Amino acid sequence: MNSKTDLSKVNEIIEGYRSKKGSLIPLLQDIQSVFGYVPEEAVNIIARELEIYPVDIYGILTFYSQFYMEPRGKHIIRVCQGTACHVMGGKEMLGFLSDELGIEDGESTKDGIFFLERVACLGCCGMAPVVMIDDNFHGRCTIGSLRKLIEQYRSKD
Ligand code: FES
Repeated sequence: MNSKTDLSKVNEIIEGYRSKKGSLIPLLQDIQSVFGYVPEEAVNIIARELEIYPVDIYGILTFYSQFYMEPRGKHIIRVCQGTACHVMGGKEMLGFLSDELGIEDGESTKDGIFFLERVACLGCCGMAPVVMIDDNFHGRCTIGSLRKLIEQYRSKD
């Protein structure tokens, strides 16, 4: 976690869950939605405040694939590999993005701009193949349209 990270947010989130027993997973989800991952410092604060062992928190973080313990790139690219997208070229889309960005599934680019992730059905199969960048869906993707999108994001950052 860098010095800009606001640790007070961790305490704020914990306060919201203090009276709710057994809500460690939603608490960790909230932490991740603020920081993009669950920082080690946050784990230590949660353990201290809720009087639980850090190892129990790490157990959850490693069991559920939704959690990340390292910072991810600024823009999260999710490439659908569900059946409809697979049939319509989802594998090629993932291959192109992997080559273009020089990273594999679950990795971030060195410049910290992108994080690449393969995902199951995003729920809009009629638009296959689908790629989601942050909160935006991009349907009927082609290698050309993805190349343009990547250029746009690169020029913004
Ligand atoms: S299979 Fe890709 S959105 Fe459903």
